[in-house]
Amino acid sequence: MTTVGIDAMEIWTGKLKLDLPNTFAPEKGEDPEKYTKGLGLNASSFPDSYEDIVTMGANAAKKLMDRKGLEPDDIGRIDVATESSFDNSKPISTYIAGCLEQVYEGDFHHANKGERKFACIAGTQSIDDAYNWIRAGRNRGRAALVIATDTALYARGDAGEATQGAGAVAMLIDEDPDLVELSMEQGYGSADETDFLKPNQQFPSVDGKRSVKVYLARMREALEDFESVAGKIHPDDFAYGPFHTPFPGMVRKAALLAYRHIIRDTEVEEELAEEIGRQPRQEAFDDDEAFTEALREYMDALKGTEQYQDWYGRTIEPTLGISRDVGNWYTGSVHIARLSALMHAAEQGEDLAGQRLLVGSYGSGAQAEIHAETVCDNWLEEVEALDVQEQIDARYDLSWAEYEEVHDRHNHEKDKELEEFTAPENEFAFDGWGRMGERKYRYVE
Ligand code: CAA
Repeated sequence: MTTVGIDAMEIWTGKLKLDLPNTFAPEKGEDPEKYTKGLGLNASSFPDSYEDIVTMGANAAKKLMDRKGLEPDDIGRIDVATESSFDNSKPISTYIAGCLEQVYEGDFHHANKGERKFACIAGTQSIDDAYNWIRAGRNRGRAALVIATDTALYARGDAGEATQGAGAVAMLIDEDPDLVELSMEQGYGSADETDFLKPNQQFPSVDGKRSVKVYLARMREALEDFESVAGKIHPDDFAYGPFHTPFPGMVRKAALLAYRHIIRDTEVEEELAEEIGRQPRQEAFDDDEAFTEALREYMDALKGTEQYQDWYGRTIEPTLGISRDVGNWYTGSVHIARLSALMHAAEQGEDLAGQRLLVGSYGSGAQAEIHAETVCDNWLEEVEALDVQEQIDARYDLSWAEYEEVHDRHNHEKDKELEEFTAPENEFAFDGWGRMGERKYRYVE
């Protein structure tokens, strides 16, 4: 059976940056370390006045198509994952295809287009759709373009404001991929939850503390479901564990729970027992409160062990690099976590081909999904072709007053005109409104 997976990827970050410790924290009267150490974030990306989910998605897709030498005829599907859509009927993929058709000969008239919505997990679900389409043999030798694009904006003053971000990830899903092969096995954890939602509104209604609990509960369910089909996981099975990263502090919490789960009944638990005891088992306790307290004590002790610190430093910390500097990209977030890990491995000169990743996606509302990926032989060439750090470094650093103007500019309820901070060059840009209220775009040389 041929392998199917991610052949290549490109990112596009919003071209503006908000510095959290130096610009955000003083305005909020907070200690800068709440952001850098607590949440684990240095900065957020924002779209310039001529950028939005279409321009960022189309720009990432064009970079990908140019680098891989693709023409529209090579693409049989364009799926956009977003939770920032501005149109309840016409999918963002049609806007993006329209942009790309301005610069390529040929068109995407015979490509199936759609838009996937399930909060931040929709990017992974779009990859699934592409995988299934290829596996079913309906692709006629063509590849799928999956684009995860979001402007993750919160209302000003909302606790989530510190975790904003904006950017797009374009991924080519194909047979015999160059980057990672996807596992057939998947685990799901899904339930009707009210933690984060946007009932026909642009900015989310969030129960922040509850959202953290729901993330952990659904991830745990997905991990158990994954193990039920793929077999028990051991901490040494995976080189990296990229997880959905609304902010790195969230992954820090998830990683500790995941580690406790995967070492249970292994030699690692036994080795640690001398130092911190064995894990508390529910059946050994008469009441829930005593069990929860014992569990909390065990987790605190586990966090301080050399074994855990070592595993976390090797497997999880390297997935957080990009997120620290760009914030939450919602549907793209888990995909930049994977990329962070691969970029770290490239910098370290690691021989990653054939090694495995454990990928955990999450969408509020809520659903988690876990699957494995195997790194392909050409991964290094793919990763070295990217300019992620250059894009991050080139962003315009906003003052607080400028940030407020940019936030208003992207607020759908405000009609705010704003001079651009950066000049568009060889990229798609917003070009005003059409006769039916549609957004229009042009390619700027
Ligand atoms: N030095 C070091 N650490 C500090 C600190 C300081 N001076 N001050 C605070 N901290 C730590 C806190 O202890 C806390 O860490 P722990 O949780 O490990 O204890 C961390 O910094 C954050 O502090 P608070 O909890 O006080 O922060 P907050 O209440 O202002 O906001 C939040 C946190 C509720 C998560 C908020 O950022 C939020 O609402 N975010 C949006 C929702 C979200 O991202 N939820 C995540 C799960 S849902 C999801 O994943 C989907 C999605 O993408 C949105």
